[in-house]
Amino acid sequence: MSAYHKVTKDIVEELKQIVGDKHVIFDDEEKMEEYSHDEVAEVKFHGMPEVVVKPNRTEEISAIMKLANRENIPVTPQGAKSGLSGGGVAAIGGILLNVERMNRILEIDKANMMAVAEPGIITNDFSAEVQKEGLFFAGYPMSLLTCYLGGNVAENAGGGKAIKYGVTGRYIIGLEVVLPSGEIAFFGGKRVKDVTGYNMVQLMVGSEGTLGIFTKIIVKLIPLPKAKIDMMVLFEDLQTAIDVVPKIMTEVGVIPTGIEFMDQLTLETCCKHLGQNPDQYKNAGAFLIIEVDGNDEEQVLNECLDIGDLCTDNGAIDAFVAQTPADQEKIWALRRNAAEAFKAISPRQSLEDIVVPMSTIPRVLPILRDLSKKHEVFIPCYGHAGDGNLHATVIKNPDHTDEHWQDLLPKVLTDLYSEIYKLGGTISGEHGVGSKLKQYLPLVLGKTEIESMKSIKRALDPNNILNPGKIFDM
Ligand code: LAC
Ligand code: ZN
Repeated sequence: MSAYHKVTKDIVEELKQIVGDKHVIFDDEEKMEEYSHDEVAEVKFHGMPEVVVKPNRTEEISAIMKLANRENIPVTPQGAKSGLSGGGVAAIGGILLNVERMNRILEIDKANMMAVAEPGIITNDFSAEVQKEGLFFAGYPMSLLTCYLGGNVAENAGGGKAIKYGVTGRYIIGLEVVLPSGEIAFFGGKRVKDVTGYNMVQLMVGSEGTLGIFTKIIVKLIPLPKAKIDMMVLFEDLQTAIDVVPKIMTEVGVIPTGIEFMDQLTLETCCKHLGQNPDQYKNAGAFLIIEVDGNDEEQVLNECLDIGDLCTDNGAIDAFVAQTPADQEKIWALRRNAAEAFKAISPRQSLEDIVVPMSTIPRVLPILRDLSKKHEVFIPCYGHAGDGNLHATVIKNPDHTDEHWQDLLPKVLTDLYSEIYKLGGTISGEHGVGSKLKQYLPLVLGKTEIESMKSIKRALDPNNILNPGKIFDM
């Protein structure tokens, strides 16, 4: 593959013709800075684009992709910049294509329980609009107040309600996509069943912006549950809390909407970050947030009581029950802010996204303890306990130098991923591989698996124009 070409002034002029002068940023590092990173803390995963373009229509994106192929310039699609693997960052320069202007809901089709939206709509805004029609979009990434629906599809976002409702892909049944070549394709449609050819919709879902740029998204919705209760259950230590998690499902026989957990350090850090007083939680070493929803209030309450009893029988020391939306939001706000709270206290950190089978969730904690001891780093942990997707966060020891940290982190991560793999787990449950994890991909995927993925990339993007260098190098 020949080296990519640079973005020249002539090309910038052509881009301006396509999207309009106002929607191109060039030669202005200060303005481009905000487009140069996502939420990954490590600066080595940031990257300054050569030019930022903000199209408003499918045809504009198509024209940009055709131009990029003709001129051999890489294009990085970008959403809200809330990603956690560097996937939407222009790691090697080129054109950064941000979809922020494409933020319309095109249709709420109540009779079919579906909605059609553009990729730049904020997930929470989308949810709020469909709720007005009594419909429910079950996606609940922790960044829902800022992230875009398009990014959720590109990463196949999981989040806090995946144990009951599944991840984003489950609700995506049709996509208008600009292919890397610039051609426009429409895969799927408003059909619950469709086996007419390959399942291209689900190939696009989670493709991290490497196989196409979504321009219209058909989302399957479900009826909005009428009742919901949240509980924050306190435990003396993390292992006791985590040991209960699989039992909630196997012994009580209920799949809660969410089972989230935080260790002590996470809760304290979040409280401080949000200006909440951590004292009310001070005797506890670990916390589960358990949400149960349904249509029958009494049934939801009874399920919560059963789960509460199981927790008490298994070492819970206290519980707060939140039935009003305000109290529920208070609990979830703590959990939603965990990543941000840790980033604020230490930019030298690696937020992990490991995922293991449900029955092995309790076995992850001793692994983290051993690694923390062996490498002398802090590894606080929180995450989606119910689906085994755990955000262990490796934080630099203040006694170590920066050089030592740079050298150490890959060793810690290699050890961690190898152990997780032995449990039947893998390195990313919801944040994606992006740039951040690609060097570790061979630890969990074989040559055959990686090669078959690469052959799909080669077939759809022979010039390797769309988001090159993400997931793997070609
Ligand atoms: C969360 C993000 C980090 O669950 O995925 O908070
Ligand atoms: Zn998460």
